[in-house]
Amino acid sequence: MPITNREVHLVRRPDGMPVPEDFSVVEAELPDIAPGQFRVRNLFLSIDPAMRPRLSAGQALDEPMAGGAIGRVVQSLNPEFAEGDYVMHRWSFREYANLDGRGAQKLAVDPALSPSVYMHVLGGSGFVAYGGLLAIGKMKDGEQVFVSTAAGSVGSVAVQVAKIHDCYVIGSTGSDEKCRWLTEDLGVDVAINYKKEPIRSALKAAAPRGIDVYFDNVGGDHLNAALPRMNVLGRIPVCGMISAYNNFGAISDPVTTLSNIIYGRITIRGFVGADFPELKPAFDEEMTAWVKSGR
Ligand SMILES: NC(=O)c1ccc[n+]([C@@H]2O[C@H](COP(=O)([O-])OP(=O)(O)OC[C@H]3O[C@@H](n4cnc5c(N)ncnc54)[C@H](OP(=O)(O)O)[C@@H]3O)[C@@H](O)[C@H]2O)c1
Repeated sequence: MPITNREVHLVRRPDGMPVPEDFSVVEAELPDIAPGQFRVRNLFLSIDPAMRPRLSAGQALDEPMAGGAIGRVVQSLNPEFAEGDYVMHRWSFREYANLDGRGAQKLAVDPALSPSVYMHVLGGSGFVAYGGLLAIGKMKDGEQVFVSTAAGSVGSVAVQVAKIHDCYVIGSTGSDEKCRWLTEDLGVDVAINYKKEPIRSALKAAAPRGIDVYFDNVGGDHLNAALPRMNVLGRIPVCGMISAYNNFGAISDPVTTLSNIIYGRITIRGFVGADFPELKPAFDEEMTAWVKSGR
């Protein structure tokens, strides 16, 4: 039957950093499901940096925001999706969604784990951290690794994968509390609070043996600082440029150290998770084992 649904709408395009006034919580009627449809109650939603450019262009105003969600089927007229199934889909920022199966995939939730892990470490964030380091960064055991946004969803997995591979790991983040978490809980060798010290000099001090792999989540000043520290044949998998997303057109700060690409024969490559589907079975097996063992 029709229900009253609570939805989050974008009501104004943000200027720089988004503020609460750019959004509104709206009550709207959700019609009954039609044949072929099923109704999902959303349990978890993901608020991703990549959504920020869409708030400037792409996300429609006065409509529920799009974004990743995990929900559970509460009613179904679709033979592929049964009541109780967990589903991952793109219709988040609302309590309920009527779906027809397109853009939705059933989620096999390990009974020993919370379904929320498929939104981070066993989901897209974990997969880009794993594949970005291993397939794009070609990280080898024992190398020197720098990860920016190291305490974020992607970065915190990347630093742990690098530590599991016995690498020397430097992480940058924006608070002392996050620095402590990185070193004390995650085993990062050196954590840099880039808000307290210039990233360029801090990185020089933290990387006495240079950097073999820079996992870039930030771009701008961090990329500028990392390039002169790269070892010969170093690799820079570029996962994101969060320092640029609040700027119109996602324009980053200038990177003036690019000549190091020649001296160091450095490879810089952007990537998305769809670039290494062949890694998915190994990721599922290895990462699930690491999560379940507490490693
Ligand atoms: N290529 C792909 O397929 C893919 C997939 C997922 C994510 N990504 C990218 O990966 C990056 C991290 O995503 P996430 O989901 O892990 O993010 P997240 O968990 O939301 O973390 C975002 C963090 O970025 C840091 N940050 C914000 N502005 C910054 C700036 N100007 N300079 C340096 N750090 C800044 C903040 O932490 P601090 O306290 O450390 O400043 C913030 O908490 C993003 O660039 C995202 O676009 C790419």
